[in-house]
Amino acid sequence: MRRPLIVCNWKMAMTLEETRAFVRTFAAQDLGQAAQLDLVICPPATALTTLQAAAEGTPLQLGAQDLSPHADPAHTGQLSAALLRDAGAEWVLVGHFETRAGERAGDPDLLQAKIRRALEGGLRPILLLGEDEPTPDAAARIETRIRRLLSGCTPEEIQRMGFIYEPSWAIGQDEPAPAEQVDRGAQALRAALALHFGTDVAAEVPIIYGGSVTPENAERLLSIRTLDGLGMGRRGRDPGAVARLVEQVLRARSAAAAPENAGLWYWFLFESGLSTQRAKELLTQWQDEGERLEELLTLPPQAKAQHGLAPREIAQLEPPETLPEVTAVQWDAPLYPAGLRQLPLRLRPALLFTAGPAPLLARPLLYLPPLPLTEQEGELLQEAIGLLLGEGLLPATLAGSPQATVLLQELTHAEGEGLLFVRSGLERHPISPEAKALIENGRLLLVSPLPPTTPEHPDLAPVLAQVEGAAAKRCLLIGTFLETPCPPAKSLHLVPPGTPPRPDLRQVEDPAEVLLWLSDLEPPSTGTLPEPQPGVEAAPLSPEETLNILEQGGAVPRVLRERLRKQQG
Ligand code: PGA
Repeated sequence: MRRPLIVCNWKMAMTLEETRAFVRTFAAQDLGQAAQLDLVICPPATALTTLQAAAEGTPLQLGAQDLSPHADPAHTGQLSAALLRDAGAEWVLVGHFETRAGERAGDPDLLQAKIRRALEGGLRPILLLGEDEPTPDAAARIETRIRRLLSGCTPEEIQRMGFIYEPSWAIGQDEPAPAEQVDRGAQALRAALALHFGTDVAAEVPIIYGGSVTPENAERLLSIRTLDGLGMGRRGRDPGAVARLVEQVLRARSAAAAPENAGLWYWFLFESGLSTQRAKELLTQWQDEGERLEELLTLPPQAKAQHGLAPREIAQLEPPETLPEVTAVQWDAPLYPAGLRQLPLRLRPALLFTAGPAPLLARPLLYLPPLPLTEQEGELLQEAIGLLLGEGLLPATLAGSPQATVLLQELTHAEGEGLLFVRSGLERHPISPEAKALIENGRLLLVSPLPPTTPEHPDLAPVLAQVEGAAAKRCLLIGTFLETPCPPAKSLHLVPPGTPPRPDLRQVEDPAEVLLWLSDLEPPSTGTLPEPQPGVEAAPLSPEETLNILEQGGAVPRVLRERLRKQQG
C-alpha cells in the first residue's frame, strides 16, 4: 500500500524564529500516527538547517522548494542538490508554478535537468504538474508532460518520486479546484505513469493534490480515492492546520481500506467472469484480511496467487481500469458531500447507483425528491444544488418539479451537468428553450422510464415515487441511448424498487444481478416482484433488441454481451 504524502510549501515566508515556533507548537501535539505518512515541509532555503535541528525526533521531513539544474559551483545565487542535501533536505519540489513562471517558464529541458540533478544528488523529487488554465484536455497534456519530463528515468527512480496535481489557477484562491477535476487530474497522472513505467510502478508512487487546500476543505478532497494526500501552501505554515491534515489524511486512508464498495467489486468480479458464489467468497476473504481491493487487483500475478486467486482467475481479472465507469455509492459514503448532510433530512438528495461509461453517468447520481418547498427550503436547496454541481456530482430530479426549476436556474449560471426524469416518453415531453440549450450543450440529460412516444402515464407515478423514497440504494439505472426527435437527449430505463412489472424490466437489488437477469430471459420469479398491475404493459424485448439498446448506450458489460450473443447464436 502506498504511503500517504503531505507536502507543506512555505514559499517565501517563515523567519528562523517562526520556523522554531512552528516546530514547538507542532511537536506539542499528539503525533504518534504521523509516522505512517511522509510529512514533508518545504521551508525557504534559509530555514532548512534551522528546521532540521528543530525537527529532530519529530516526524517532519525536509524538502527544498527548488534546485539548480547544474551541479558545478559556477552558478552564483543557485542551490545545487548537493548543498540542499547537506542542509538537511531529503525531498525537493520541481516545477512549482511560481518557479516555472520565471523567464524560461515551464521549459521542459530545464525541468528535466532539475529532476535529473535531484535524483543524482540523492534528493527525492516531487514533481508538480497541472494545467495553467481550466481545459478539457488536461489528461492529454499531463501525459505529454510526463513523457517529456521523465524520459530517461528508470522505474526505480520514479519509485523515489512524489507527484502533485496542482493546476496553477487553483493556487492562492479561496477554494480548491472542483473535486471532479482533481480526480481526473490525479487519474490522468497515474495513467500516464502507468503508460510509461508500467502499472506496478504507477501503483506505488504517491499522487496528491495542491492548490488552496485547508483542513476545512480537505475532507471533501480526500473523499477522492485517487489521492494519496494533499499539499498546503499558505495553511501549511500553521502547525495546527498541518496536524489536523495529518489526522484527516490518515482517516481517509483507513476509510478507503474499508470494504464499502463491496457491491461494486462484486459486480467487477462477476463481470470478469467469476461465478457469483466465487466472487462472494473472495470478497469475504479479502475483507476479512483487510485488503484494499483496488490495490490487490493491480498486483503482479504471483502476489495475486498469494491472495487466493487461481491462475485461471488471475488471467481473467484485468486491473480495474474500467471501475470508475461504474460507480456505486451508498447513502453515507465519503463521496456524499459533508455540506449536504446539513440539509433537513427530507430535502437531502438520495444517492443512486449509476452504471455505464456515458460521461454523464460515470459518476454518482443524486436524486432530489420533488417535494413541495417553502421559500426558505428553496434557498437551501439552491445552495445544495450549487454544491452538488461544484462537487462534480450529477443532481437529478423530476421534470416540472420546483426542484427542476432550481436545477435549471443553477445550471444556467454554474458549471456542471444535471439530469431530469420525465414522466412521459421523451418525444411527448415539452422542452423549454432554456432546457433545450442545456441539452444541446450536453449539460442536461433527460431520462424517461418509458419508450419515446409513450404519453404521460399516471400509473407510472408510483414507480417514480419509489425513487423519491428512501430506498434509493436499491435503484438501478441502465444507460440506453434512444433516437428521439430532440437529439442529443438520451433516455434511460429506470428500474426502482417495487417497479410495476413490465416483462422487459426487472427489479434487482445487487448490481451484479442485473447481469443475471438480463442474460436470463426467463419470466421473473414472482417471489421478489410485485403482482402485475393493469395498464402498464410492454412487449418483452428479445435478446437481440436488448443488446442493441444497451450497445447504443455503450453500457454492455463484456460478460453480458457474450452471453447475449450466445443466446442469439
Ligand atoms: P496555496 O498554495 O495552498 O496557498 O494555494 C499551494 C501551492 O502553491 O503549492
